[in-house]
Amino acid sequence: MNRDDQSRDEVGVRPGAAAFDAISGRYDTLFSPAVNPLIPMVRDRVYRALERHVAPGGTLLEVGCGTGEDTLALVARGYRVVAADPAPGMIAEARAKLTQAGKAAAVQFIVGGVEDLARGWAARGLSVDGVFSNLAPLNCVLSLDPVRLLLEQALVPGGRFVGVVLPRWCPLEVALSLARRDPRTALRRFRRHPVADVEGRRFPMRYYGAADFDRALGGGFRRVETRSLGLCLPPLSYGPAFGRVPGLLPTLGALEDRLSGLPGLRRMGDHILLAYARA
Ligand SMILES: C[S@@+](CC[C@H](N)C(=O)[O-])C[C@H]1O[C@@H](n2cnc3c(N)ncnc32)[C@H](O)[C@@H]1O
Repeated sequence: MNRDDQSRDEVGVRPGAAAFDAISGRYDTLFSPAVNPLIPMVRDRVYRALERHVAPGGTLLEVGCGTGEDTLALVARGYRVVAADPAPGMIAEARAKLTQAGKAAAVQFIVGGVEDLARGWAARGLSVDGVFSNLAPLNCVLSLDPVRLLLEQALVPGGRFVGVVLPRWCPLEVALSLARRDPRTALRRFRRHPVADVEGRRFPMRYYGAADFDRALGGGFRRVETRSLGLCLPPLSYGPAFGRVPGLLPTLGALEDRLSGLPGLRRMGDHILLAYARA
């Protein structure tokens, strides 16, 4: 079967993909810079990191591209992009966005999650300079084995994987949740079987740290960057509230830029960015 033609029914059995599929038409409103000024701050930091690892002009496989917000930014920076997501609605939004911008020809779209990509990659006969995944698509999988399988097949020797995931330790989330007398949220990342809640649709997920990726990727990959995203900046859900206080987010952002790469701090935050080089 051509993965591009994968049906909505087939994807429906995967609760993570189905949850995001259901909100695909509203995702850009929920995550728009106008509603949440923290989102562009985080995306900018991710793009700067990505450019440290894969030079513009290279080919990227974007895993969990969502509505194509990053896809468009990456194409504008000169990357060639293969953009994949298991939610058909997300791919439809991404395709429409790139088409409207006159950039659809620079992108190959695939309906498929990391597991599908790992399983079907050999048949594509394609190698990429970088594999990129932003804002936690990989937290939707309960094992990182498909990530290793995909990277081994897709990346050229020396190629880079840059992933942004939700780790277990987020000191600000704990502090802010406890201040709101919400211990459930404060402790949610430490649950044995954590559950994601996307607008009321719940599905099992995992929080992953640098050590989890080191173990899963094995000796064929070397971690070359570890950086916190959301150490001094608050968790993304607090963006609208913090954004209402003049000057607060830029101040926290400046502090974050000084501290986010420090040993001991760089493994914690709302998200972390991990970069690996393929041997
Ligand atoms: C929080 S959104 C992030 C989307 C996009 N990267 C962004 O920065 O806006 C998570 C995305 O992961 C996708 N996803 C869910 N399960 C996945 C899987 N198994 N493999 C890859 N992506 C997955 C969802 O469909 C959704 O588009």
